[in-house]
Amino acid sequence: MTRYLCLVVGLGLTVTCAARGGTDVEKRIDALIAEMTVAEKVGQLDMQPIKGAAENLPKRLAAAESRVRAGAVGSFIWAHTNPAARNRLQRIAVTESRMKIPLFFAHDIIHGCYTAMPIAPALAGSFDMDLVARAQAVAAKEAASEGLDLVFAPMCDIARDLRWGRVAESCGEDPYLAAEAVAAQVRGFQGTDPAAADRVGACCKHFVGYGMVTGGQDYRDSPFSEWDLRQTHLPSFRAGVAAGTVSLMSGFNTVDGIPAVASRHALTDILRGEWGFRGFVVSDWGTTGELMRWGLTDNAADSARLALTAGNDIDMCSDTYAAGVDKALKDGTLTMDVLDEAVRRVLRVKFALGLFDRPYVDEDLNAAVKRDFRAEALAVAREAADKTIVLLKNDGILPLDPSAARKIAVIGPCGQGGSELFGCWSYKAEGSRLTDVYAGLRQLFPKAEFKCVRGCDHSIAIVPRRLQDGSAANDQEKRGTLFEADKAVAAAEWADTVILAIGQYHRHSGEAGSVASLQFTGRQLELFRVVAATGKKIVTVVFGGRPIYDDEVWARSSAVLFAWNPGSAGGLGVADILSGAVSPSARLSMSVPRSLAQSPCYYNAPVTGRPGSGDYTDIPKEERGAVHPFGFGLTYSTFAYGKVSVDGNVASCEIANVGDRAATEVVQLYVRQHACPEGYRPKRELRGFRRVTLVPGDKATVSFELTDATLGYTDRQGRDRCDPGRYSVWIAPDSASGTPAEYRRTSVDRAGAF
Ligand code: GLC
Repeated sequence: MTRYLCLVVGLGLTVTCAARGGTDVEKRIDALIAEMTVAEKVGQLDMQPIKGAAENLPKRLAAAESRVRAGAVGSFIWAHTNPAARNRLQRIAVTESRMKIPLFFAHDIIHGCYTAMPIAPALAGSFDMDLVARAQAVAAKEAASEGLDLVFAPMCDIARDLRWGRVAESCGEDPYLAAEAVAAQVRGFQGTDPAAADRVGACCKHFVGYGMVTGGQDYRDSPFSEWDLRQTHLPSFRAGVAAGTVSLMSGFNTVDGIPAVASRHALTDILRGEWGFRGFVVSDWGTTGELMRWGLTDNAADSARLALTAGNDIDMCSDTYAAGVDKALKDGTLTMDVLDEAVRRVLRVKFALGLFDRPYVDEDLNAAVKRDFRAEALAVAREAADKTIVLLKNDGILPLDPSAARKIAVIGPCGQGGSELFGCWSYKAEGSRLTDVYAGLRQLFPKAEFKCVRGCDHSIAIVPRRLQDGSAANDQEKRGTLFEADKAVAAAEWADTVILAIGQYHRHSGEAGSVASLQFTGRQLELFRVVAATGKKIVTVVFGGRPIYDDEVWARSSAVLFAWNPGSAGGLGVADILSGAVSPSARLSMSVPRSLAQSPCYYNAPVTGRPGSGDYTDIPKEERGAVHPFGFGLTYSTFAYGKVSVDGNVASCEIANVGDRAATEVVQLYVRQHACPEGYRPKRELRGFRRVTLVPGDKATVSFELTDATLGYTDRQGRDRCDPGRYSVWIAPDSASGTPAEYRRTSVDRAGAF
């Protein structure tokens, strides 16, 4: 892993501010703070939402204006595409409030704005960090054009438990890949200057360890050790901080028994003490107020004190700081220094975002960007879809020959429409930019005839429960009722090519989108069976915010593509790959378990003292673990890997394209330390990758330097370490393949940043 020097991040914000004169900025901040009342200081730490239906905007604006004029709010969660309204609030702040401090406007732009990009775990699975950065740069340009100054992204949480809905926002299960993808996202959002008219500030979330929520159920406690915190959950945030993110968001979860919003260990000892982070931390929605529900406090003053003293600067939408800071100061439990430091961090970011120099957005910009940037944005979305759709099975049916595929049946609830192409957190995605599967296929197979049959619903299938008296329970969600078996069968029998587009209902992922089973919801399995019974060969394309798997579907499909939620150009991506216009290169950023009973299921687990023992006795040995491992993905060619050799501290392997098509292989470097006195190390962990494109018959030698950072880890004191001793080194196509070479490290232990 490229360890991120703590010093860099401290300089990061200073350098950004230096664009506006670093020390001069600090002096201006000092002068502002010296003049501010306590109420105005608390106002800078208060974030309010302006969301909801557009027709309610005037009422919400009116309510907000008085708070802005009084200096009682410092920022808004701004859900509206209305640059003029945004500027109106800003004008009140910078011309009518006493301190004339500009507001900042923020929203959740997780994977695209008007142009939906593939969801983050899919983007990470491209193993193409330049693409990841460009995709978020498109989102930044679109978001900035409507007056957003900061986005609540990238989501940095490590996703191991597929029951958890928010795996759909993560960069997958691996700390190294997530770190690389997070850094790329921050670069995409912020560029070299987040104040630029086409860039926005980033907000790395949800600090820290949110992916460990108990049972994969959202908002729960999240037990993990300091060792796990260091090895698994911190690296992606550290990468985001080193990439210069201007902010972080604390999570709903707990760190060592303390809600993250009040975790001094995370927010101050590590984030500021070890990494030197100088931006702000914003709480997640309402979490400062939730400290009372967690039972840590029983009043607002104590909640405000706990959170501020821990290092959480902005209170998102809970009014806890507004209600409690004054009293905490008067009680002497909160010091003015702590309050001032939180305000300083917020003002420092407002300078870094250029808001003191340029508080308004050009009100003509949004229409121009929507018009003139649309084609470019969609081109990036299409490239992203092409590079994120994973080929999991192919008996040779793919790629389809566009001239031979004359009668194509598109069957299933994900064949038309955009909800499973957009996925979670895609409120701003414009339907007019969508190319769904049916439309994409029609574009790439212009000579073919089509029949498109939805076949069934796939909404949440909560089977009505029978209560004791036999009456049906009052289930809120109805079981998918549509079922067009006859139409589906007729279409399949008519066709020479059957494309089945099925997947997970989009509300089964994202926030509060946890599931207890990994099944195809609704009556999709029944639909699959009736189509399979026709005996036709089936190409199955699976959509969803997390990998799902079904033995029968995989067994009866000639090919299986996992498309995640592939975004506005998702249908073009599917068609590009099915037609062979593009050879699939994507890899899995999450392991695919056979069932959720085996979740959490991830590749980089420790060996344990009894490897292979203690597994579930009711699952046959051959069905345990991942059916497709992290890093797995097929191409339309075949690559042969030679023996891994280590010369000095460079590991190399020759790979060859021994197939009959040009293709891109994602070559992966894995390492394992065999004797680490500080704690267990994973049985193997990703520490490098390279996309290599070869034509048939071509060969290439791929090499990786085994540096301290490649082999090292961080100990419980936050020191970067690389121990002497024996290591295994793989250069392989995925996390379950390859034969390692042995490498002996002789350098002495190095405590301190690499
Ligand atoms: C939500 C999410 C967080 C999001 C925030 C603002 O509860 O947890 O990811 O950024 O609120 O919408």
